[in-house]
Amino acid sequence: MNKKRLVSGDRPTGLLHLGHYVGSIHNRLRLQDSYECFFPVVDLHMLTTKKEKQDILDSRKHIREMVLDYLSCGIDPEKSLIYLQSAIPAIYELNLIFEMLVSVNRLEGLPSIKEMAKNAKMDADSIPFGLIGYPVLQAADILLPRAEVVPVGKDNEAHVELTRDIARRFNLLYGDFFPMPQVLLSDVPSLIGTDGQGKMSKSAGNAIYLSDDAASVEKKVRAMYTDPARIHAHIPGTTEGNPVFIYLDIFCTNKAQVEELKTRYREGSVGDVEVKKCLIDSLSTFLSPIREKRQELEQEKGYVEEVLYDGTMRMMDIASDSMKEIKSLMGLSGTWNRISRLARERKEKHDVQHPVM
Ligand code: TRP
Repeated sequence: MNKKRLVSGDRPTGLLHLGHYVGSIHNRLRLQDSYECFFPVVDLHMLTTKKEKQDILDSRKHIREMVLDYLSCGIDPEKSLIYLQSAIPAIYELNLIFEMLVSVNRLEGLPSIKEMAKNAKMDADSIPFGLIGYPVLQAADILLPRAEVVPVGKDNEAHVELTRDIARRFNLLYGDFFPMPQVLLSDVPSLIGTDGQGKMSKSAGNAIYLSDDAASVEKKVRAMYTDPARIHAHIPGTTEGNPVFIYLDIFCTNKAQVEELKTRYREGSVGDVEVKKCLIDSLSTFLSPIREKRQELEQEKGYVEEVLYDGTMRMMDIASDSMKEIKSLMGLSGTWNRISRLARERKEKHDVQHPVM
């Protein structure tokens, strides 16, 4: 039985953190047995906002770290393809074809593009064409292997919707080929940062990384934002929207303990220190096995490279099969095939005549 396909990727801009885990890694792990999974390291997407030579050189380290993060979380390269986007030329090709199937207006209206431009400190005049095209390239990632499921965070929902529009348009123009991929949002599509100010991100400096050691996690949790109105442990506090409790709900497996702490927090009968201690323990239980696996894999020289190499080679085959069908449906390959056939025929005739002279 053929499994349905799933695609999800990350830009190699840094280490993966808890936000990545709850937003999409968790779903990838849950689904890796029931779907054929494709996990591109999307280094071309990184170029939309970071294109300096140094950024590209730095991305090598990040790529390695990210694959280590994947593997230490439990992504199994025997089941899932982990590959390097920039090494698959078919993605660039499909990107160009898809560029014809979407209006500039539609792309410019996407809040995610404005958000990325803002974060990269670009003004309207300096937004590159490639950043506007970011979701089109993402559509190429998703549709090249004809994926049906895309586990991503909420901020990517509109990109998957656009991907469906592109697929629909292609199918209408050239014949049914692409499925209509669905977004798979996690129960926690966006995780607040340790500062309680916005979502967890590297740039905001409010992240707990999957590879953080125990001491850093402890330090970050101790510095975490709680209820700002609560200056003493005996003042009743708010648990809703309180990052420490948000994390406890997700990472503490002892639900009864969380409920008890919440009750006491609301009554003003527990201090931040005790609540944070519980979170430190929960995160330690959650992160320890990931950390250990990571250390193990880091020792195996060349292992990450082998995983990426094998995945990329396998993806190249899948990509070239897809691309052949796509071009054939569009009538594009026919043009070149005809030219090559006629040219070869003429050359052969030429060769036959020449020896006589
Ligand atoms: N846009 C995704 C992000 O925010 C990265 C990405 C690129 C992606 N291509 C993809 C996600 C394909 C899912 C599927 O990081």
